Amino acid sequence: MKDFVAKVQEAFQFLKSRLEEMPKIAVITGTGLGAIGESFDANVTIDYLDVPHFPSPTVVSHRGMMRFGKMAHRSVVVMQGRVHLYEGYAPWQVTFSIRVLQALGVQNLILLNAAGGINPAFAPGDIMVIVDHINLTGSNPLVGPNVDQWGPRFPEMTDAYHKALISKVEKAATDAGVQIKRGVYAGLIGPCLETPAEVRFLRLIGCDAVGFSTVQEVIAAAHAKMKVVALSVITNVHDPEHPAPVRVEDVLKTAESGMSKIKAVLESVINSIDDTATG
Ligand code: HPA
Repeated sequence: MKDFVAKVQEAFQFLKSRLEEMPKIAVITGTGLGAIGESFDANVTIDYLDVPHFPSPTVVSHRGMMRFGKMAHRSVVVMQGRVHLYEGYAPWQVTFSIRVLQALGVQNLILLNAAGGINPAFAPGDIMVIVDHINLTGSNPLVGPNVDQWGPRFPEMTDAYHKALISKVEKAATDAGVQIKRGVYAGLIGPCLETPAEVRFLRLIGCDAVGFSTVQEVIAAAHAKMKVVALSVITNVHDPEHPAPVRVEDVLKTAESGMSKIKAVLESVINSIDDTATG
């Protein structure tokens, strides 16, 4: 664990030496959504591969670039792509970026992902704001000795998805004419897609969407007392009574087509965040 803390410190020092201004807001893009990072003028761009110890994505739809700059007059970093447990990365590696962002002083975290629909009322292309999650990955990034300087041994999860930020997202969506759903996200380890029986199970336990990311990051961010909001693009909807294969090409295409809706919401939410607040 000490090793992990030292590695985060090294990554932090590397970034600090390259940045004039520390971001208070971070956006992590997901499958098919990396281009969001290109829609604003970054003044510093850093490849994950150049940052000491920073894990690098192995899946093509995740670019592995950090872009630092201004969005809606706020200092922002957009992390284009993430790593997942299914790539073979350990939970501490999956949440390495969160610890580095914590060290940089990031207080607001906006997570984006592509997810499969479990709620039958959802349609491909829908945007869902995550109001809660069920961690079914079988792992947790906080297992092991607690790093007290990062957060408490038993962090609270009742407000892991920040209610005021969720309201800001919903207002931003309404203002932009984007319909937005709310729902519970099931985090699975992947990489195989869900069986029809698993889909029935996920419905039964109250999940609206399913994916292979986000929950580890949210747990680490809750530990770090960051304000988190997470948006899913629903790329496909599972029907366990008429199961149909999920095609990765379709997931990517639908995620990309959901990008304009996400972008419309994102800028307005960032604009509404008071990045001088510390509470
Ligand atoms: N399952 C898991 N992850 C996903 C899916 C899905 O159906 N669609 C997009 N990401």
